[in-house]
Amino acid sequence: MRFNLVSLFPEFFDSPLSSGLMARARQSGLVELVCSNPRDFATDKHRSVDDRPYGGGPGMVMLLETLDAALKSLDKPGKILLMSPSGRPFDQAMARDLAGEEALTLVCGRYEGVDERLMSLHDVTPLSVGDFVLNGGEAAAVCVVEAVARLLPGFMGHVGSGEDESFSAGLIEYAHYTRPENFQGLLAPEILLSGDHGRIGRWRREQSLAATLARRPELLETAPLDGKDFKVLRDLSAQGGRRRLGRNLHLALAHHPVLNKEGKTVAVSLTNLDVHDIARCSCAYGLGGYYISTPLADQQALARELVGHWLGEQGRAVNPDRAEALERVRVVDTLEQAVALTTEAAGRKPRVAATSAAVAEKSGPLLSVADLRGWLEESPVLLVLGTGHGLAPEVFETVDGTLRPIRPYEAYNHLSVRSAASIMLDRILGDAQ
Ligand SMILES: C[S@@+](CC[C@H](N)C(=O)[O-])C[C@H]1O[C@@H](n2cnc3c(N)ncnc32)[C@H](O)[C@@H]1O
Repeated sequence: MRFNLVSLFPEFFDSPLSSGLMARARQSGLVELVCSNPRDFATDKHRSVDDRPYGGGPGMVMLLETLDAALKSLDKPGKILLMSPSGRPFDQAMARDLAGEEALTLVCGRYEGVDERLMSLHDVTPLSVGDFVLNGGEAAAVCVVEAVARLLPGFMGHVGSGEDESFSAGLIEYAHYTRPENFQGLLAPEILLSGDHGRIGRWRREQSLAATLARRPELLETAPLDGKDFKVLRDLSAQGGRRRLGRNLHLALAHHPVLNKEGKTVAVSLTNLDVHDIARCSCAYGLGGYYISTPLADQQALARELVGHWLGEQGRAVNPDRAEALERVRVVDTLEQAVALTTEAAGRKPRVAATSAAVAEKSGPLLSVADLRGWLEESPVLLVLGTGHGLAPEVFETVDGTLRPIRPYEAYNHLSVRSAASIMLDRILGDAQ
């Protein structure tokens, strides 16, 4: 396979692409590297390859003319990939696709990058090796060349090495061990010495699933998994094999102070569905607590009666799952009381985050889901949802921040509070977290 490397610093590739298996692949002709330096195509006396950006700003931009000439000089360009932090994220699936090509051209940017019109001159795909900025595209190109070349048949000594490793089956790879069996008291897993390849295969699959669940749960969303895998994952999760940020999250459903349609601060009545659905969601996401806050005595009595029905002997017998969810409901007079109970349960005062369907100027710092997750890593959090027409302005004045609305760019985002609660909980604590 031919890799054309368009770079102002071709010497960059000398060492990394001349060692180990790559050196052997080049010697055998399996991999061919061709460098094309835009500077060799410069026509002015300074051999310029860059210039200042139009519109001002720092740094320099790579000139079109020399890049275009360097690309046109290639006799077998194949697909053209531009190394760029703003490109499509490079991954193992892409490496596998690219390994089927006869030739690839990797354009390495320098300075602030290349003149955007390169995309109009050539069929170029921008590719990123990660959400960070390198000095130049050469280090990124080395990653792409290595990842693609090692999948070529004959590159690796052992057929199947490429199929077994991380990401090939959508999971992180299992852990490896080699001699000695006992190093300073650290033993290699007994099963790997058993010679029973069936058991070893199953153990390795479990190791892969465990590592992925603990470190990269988002990969499980797309990994091909069967019923046995899900059973293993459920057992691992029950044994504490995944982060349980939900424990730190407490939810309060406020029926006062909230706004009515006229914009007045009022107390509104309870909705049976909110009690049930949010309790079940809180249970499914492992929340630390669910508080229903209302100052109205009759509404408190109603909430207690609803919950009591399902926690009673008959309710439990008919629907034990419902009882398990409703057990976490606490009826409180005020949000302050919800804060106090969270403090008692968590052993620390929580940070309090409000929610709103609107982005109001006065609602204090707007929190992203990632911000809230960051809070949960450090401390308990009480997330306050409002009934009626939303939480009254005074609530926003006392909280530590407000979670960004759901669907903030759409004209209609009027969700029921129980829908909003479900969506928020899944965004904060979903399976991929
Ligand atoms: C200093 S960077 C330019 C960064 C650019 N101004 C920006 O903010 O997106 C110079 C060159 O390094 C390469 N590069 C930097 N980070 C990269 C990444 N994460 N993936 C692929 N290429 C990268 C690109 O070729 C880029 O043109």
